[in-house]
Amino acid sequence: MKILAIETSCDDTCAAVLDNDRVLSNVISSQTDLHAKWGGVVPDIAKRAHQERIEAVIAEAMKRAKPFPNPSLDRAGLKLSPEEIIEREIKSIDVIGVTLGPGLAIALGIGVNKAKELAIKYNKKLVAVNHIEGHMWANFLKNKNGKPERKLEVPALALTVSGGHTKIILIQSPPDLSNLPLTPSLTRRGIEQKLSYTIIGETLDDAAGEALDKAAKMLGLGYPGGPILERIAKDGKTDFLDLPHPLADKKILDYSFSGLKTSFYYKVKDWPAEKIYQNLNNLAATFQNAVFETLLRKYKLAIIKYQPKLLLASGGVLANLELRKRLRKLAKEVGLPIFMPTQKNLNTDNAAMIGIVAYQKALREEFVEDVEKLDRNPRLKL
Ligand code: KG4
Ligand code: ZN
Repeated sequence: MKILAIETSCDDTCAAVLDNDRVLSNVISSQTDLHAKWGGVVPDIAKRAHQERIEAVIAEAMKRAKPFPNPSLDRAGLKLSPEEIIEREIKSIDVIGVTLGPGLAIALGIGVNKAKELAIKYNKKLVAVNHIEGHMWANFLKNKNGKPERKLEVPALALTVSGGHTKIILIQSPPDLSNLPLTPSLTRRGIEQKLSYTIIGETLDDAAGEALDKAAKMLGLGYPGGPILERIAKDGKTDFLDLPHPLADKKILDYSFSGLKTSFYYKVKDWPAEKIYQNLNNLAATFQNAVFETLLRKYKLAIIKYQPKLLLASGGVLANLELRKRLRKLAKEVGLPIFMPTQKNLNTDNAAMIGIVAYQKALREEFVEDVEKLDRNPRLKL
């Protein structure tokens, strides 16, 4: 099955082509430069950029998925427009998958409308995908050669950590539905494959990536702050300031990062710029450490409580090598396997992760019934 996937939930314009769960192409047009001077994502700017780029990004994904013969030229060797490339290449696509939510409403709208337009114009099946489900499944994407071969074992405990979300999700087999009458669109195979997701912990305020971005902003660093803090934190002391341990109560599995951020702010707000500058590495290392310790403390509590067979971690912040190292150490300590995305660009937002979920939903025949009526859902629940 060939899937074209589209993702525009935040500030990356993304399209991918998959052959089942194998990634043939994964194009990401980042808008970081456009938002950097504002210190965060500006929805209107994101919307306009998605609008300007979406067609070219889809055409590029189609070109890269099919390197030969050159899809950007017609028979006479003349260059085709993105629209013409899509028109030609979409013939081989079976299903279109698109992020329905959660995310920025006006940004989501661009991807959803484009997917609807293509599905109607070219008579393709359409699948609506949850962005968070995509992040979890980024762990199971394969390259063109079918590597890596990973299998989901349930119960699994997924940690998703990005700029918009921080969640611990319990993945289980569905409850036994064998006595339910089967409808044509809900085949027995469909029931068996559908998993249940339960959010057992999530942030009550800021997401972990958001906290990193805000701390970096306080220090006068650029956007997004997560990768910048990672670089600066390398040789810094992790106990330079005394920061709080949010929601330290052992029974609570939820996160809170806004107190951490506020405490950090009050500690450094009266410092002269020179003092901040001289201690940048210590400040970055201390804040990053506090965020990661909090992430791991609650995740470990959840592992003890729910006794999963497999750990999964994903989301933009998983691009951080220090966090990956600590998660691997935790997995070893509790004696469990852990999967994290194998490529850097599968941690941050991308359309391949939407494509793999679309593939599974297509196998279960979970297609959008009324394409015309499909609407973005910025608060879509798992
Ligand atoms: O998943 P993502 O691309 O978008 C959302 O769905 O939010 O995640 C973006 C977040 C940002 O907060 C960014 O600072 C963070 O991921 N991030 C990192 C790193 N790379 C991206 N945080 C820490 N270290 C990194 N290397
Ligand atoms: Zn994301």
